[in-house]
Amino acid sequence: MDELRRRVAEINWFHTIDLGGGIVTPGETHPERILPRLRLPDLTGREVLDVGAWDGFFSFAAERRGAARVLATDSFSWGGRGWGTRAGFDLARAALGSHVEDAEVDVMDLDPAALGTFDVVLFLGVLYHLRDPVTALERVAAVTRDLLVVETEVAMLLHRQPAAAFYPGAELGDDPTNWWAPNPAAVLGMLRLAGFRRVEVAWRRRLPRRVAGWVVNRVRGATDVGLADIVQRYRFVFHAWR
Ligand SMILES: C[S@@+](CC[C@H](N)C(=O)[O-])C[C@H]1O[C@@H](n2cnc3c(N)ncnc32)[C@H](O)[C@@H]1O
Repeated sequence: MDELRRRVAEINWFHTIDLGGGIVTPGETHPERILPRLRLPDLTGREVLDVGAWDGFFSFAAERRGAARVLATDSFSWGGRGWGTRAGFDLARAALGSHVEDAEVDVMDLDPAALGTFDVVLFLGVLYHLRDPVTALERVAAVTRDLLVVETEVAMLLHRQPAAAFYPGAELGDDPTNWWAPNPAAVLGMLRLAGFRRVEVAWRRRLPRRVAGWVVNRVRGATDVGLADIVQRYRFVFHAWR
């Protein structure tokens, strides 16, 4: 356990993951709070692909929920182009005794001939990192057999027409790898364009709740985000069926 603790401390973690024995990775994010928002179906016996898995929290969660096979893929972080690496995924997989498979592949190179197709595909926190989200969703659709779950930054929430905010620099979260935040109508339109037959918003936080949460966080000094930002943008979850 001391050896595991030492190795955990050497890694820059994106995901907070409970590895058991009182060891929890010091992640930048708390994906266990996002998991219920995904409204995942019963995964028993199903094949799951996690695109942009990073430390693999959602891949391990799918395995725990009974998936017959889980493939975790990533490219940017695993390829060492960001502040993270794939060391977290490798260590967590070993520590959890997980059988999640892995492949280093860019979203744009997802190919059913090479990877096969999957009942359920998780595309969480990746869409807004892509310069060409429409083509990316077509690549993701090509490896989806049944359900695609998209969790993404959305913006321009006061616009009813399909629209997207563009971040050519580091405007969003001071991160130059963020490019586009579409509004829900645009996400649904892109999913239909990519070939999904039925598309819906699976989880959203409505404006009064967003504003109320912002007020609480502001009073606590827990956010420096402005009110205009909370009105215009958030994170939503979408489901799309082939
Ligand atoms: C914000 S993190 C989300 C990680 C995880 N899916 C989650 O929801 O917590 C974005 C992930 O997408 C990956 N990513 C970004 N661009 C990618 C691309 N073109 N191909 C594959 N993965 C990519 C990054 O490496 C990173 O792991």
